[in-house]
Amino acid sequence: MTILETHHLRKIYGAGETEVRALDGVDLSVEKGEFVAVVGTSGSGKSTLLHMLGGLDHPTSGTVTVDGRDLFSLKDEALTIFRRRKIGFVFQSYNLVPVLNVRENIVLPIQLDGGKPDESYVGEIIETLGLGSKLQNLPGNLSGGQQQRVAIARALVSKPAIILADEPTGNLDSVTSQDVMGLLKVTSEKFTQTIVMITHNEEIAQMADRIVRIEDGRIFPSGGTPGTVCAIPSPERNTPQSSSRDTRG
Ligand SMILES: Nc1ncnc2c1ncn2[C@@H]1O[C@H](COP(=O)(O)OP(=O)(O)OP(=O)(O)O)[C@@H](O)[C@H]1O
Ligand SMILES: [Mg+2]
Repeated sequence: MTILETHHLRKIYGAGETEVRALDGVDLSVEKGEFVAVVGTSGSGKSTLLHMLGGLDHPTSGTVTVDGRDLFSLKDEALTIFRRRKIGFVFQSYNLVPVLNVRENIVLPIQLDGGKPDESYVGEIIETLGLGSKLQNLPGNLSGGQQQRVAIARALVSKPAIILADEPTGNLDSVTSQDVMGLLKVTSEKFTQTIVMITHNEEIAQMADRIVRIEDGRIFPSGGTPGTVCAIPSPERNTPQSSSRDTRG
């Protein structure tokens, strides 16, 4: 099942001499449960793509469909609600609320939405991410890796259709980065959670089910020919289990 799809996505900043084609016709399709890494050099358009996928910024043209909904057909308020329920974000800088403890940070998205946390699911997430002994700590008393694990738990808690992560290991040392990546991979498999992650670290990207490369605002599959703008997965990638094996390399 396709959970995320873009069609001829373009984002142009400026005009005339200063025009930048940050995204230049991106067609991308991601299946439910897939863990996709987007790699590319600085300025290639990675963050711009992620912002469009998350409905944080409007494209110049083209569409983004998440869980069957065309994001930019929604009015601002409806888009805000849709984003809160369906899209989880993980940023390089964690973005935890400093005055709330770990547990409060994790369940915050549910509370903001006026809902009640599914306690057994929250417990499962906390256990999977190894945060059980830190629930009363404030973020300031945690290591970077622990803070990022809290941010991942917070992104998972509302069972979003997709999690978007922009350089989630960018502030972490290489050992902690591997830990956090391992946990992202485990959560993707265990909760059939779709994740699209940006990184410029090739080693980190290798841990994903699939690598999509972006260059000058255009994407092509890993190992594909530059200029191929389509990264539609092959049918066998429909099952996340098989995709984690046949697309590495
Ligand atoms: N608000 C903006 N106004 C004008 N140009 C922008 C804006 N945001 C991004 N750009 C340009 O769009 C291009 C893509 O930027 P983007 O931030 O998506 O790159 P990136 O791949 O995330 O880079 P990095 O790895 O350095 O984070 C760059 O040339 C950048 O200068
Ligand atoms: Mg960026």
